[in-house]
Amino acid sequence: MTQNAIIGGTGLTRLSYLRVTRREVVKTPYGEPSGPVVHGTIAGAEVAFLPRHGPGHAIPPHLVNYRANIWALRHVGVQNVIAVNAVGGIRPELAPGDLVFPDQIIDYTWSRGHTFFEHELARVVHIDFTHPYSRVLREVLCRAARDSELPAHEAGTYGATQGPRLETAAEIDRLERDGCDIVGMTGMPEAALARELSLNYAACAVVTNAAAGRGAEVITMTEIEANLKIGTRRVRILLEKAVPLL
Ligand code: HPA
Repeated sequence: MTQNAIIGGTGLTRLSYLRVTRREVVKTPYGEPSGPVVHGTIAGAEVAFLPRHGPGHAIPPHLVNYRANIWALRHVGVQNVIAVNAVGGIRPELAPGDLVFPDQIIDYTWSRGHTFFEHELARVVHIDFTHPYSRVLREVLCRAARDSELPAHEAGTYGATQGPRLETAAEIDRLERDGCDIVGMTGMPEAALARELSLNYAACAVVTNAAAGRGAEVITMTEIEANLKIGTRRVRILLEKAVPLL
């Protein structure tokens, strides 16, 4: 049984370096996951892969069925999840193409299926979420990045916005005042749902652009895609080191 999983974000709908062994369609009480769970190996280590936005990258961040995805991974026996997310950099030292392993999150999303604990409960459940990411998994990512000499930032606060539009400059000012270092649309409720099912979860954020009002006058998809290319090459190097360490 595969204990380790990768959730692929924008730019990571297919892992060319994943040696696929089988695809598993999982039915969940929460509806359809983004696609079949793809089982395979990376650098000889077993891993399951699920592209968050679907195999064709057609599911926008606010419509991803985060509950079904996390439930499906748990159902196939996964214990450890590394999530890959494209983000905007709020602090100037976060250059496009850099990797960030956040240690905190602030959730600005709304109206997403965000908990498994709402119906037919014997009693109300409140999970502890003080430290939203697994310390052990983050350490694995940090070690892999150091060993590979990748440009990576070992901590940061991820501001999760609703999307699919990018933010206004004033919204980014507010996020910065709140203490956010990076901004993305997919960090939540995924991290909290993983905690609800007792999965170890860590994120590898790829900076694709300076956040709104922090760089170019307008943020273009061309810019995001070009930086994503650089970032996903680094994610490959990272995962080939990190997955065998899990
Ligand atoms: N904001 C939100 N999500 C993102 C960004 C951004 O600037 N870049 C990539 N994903």
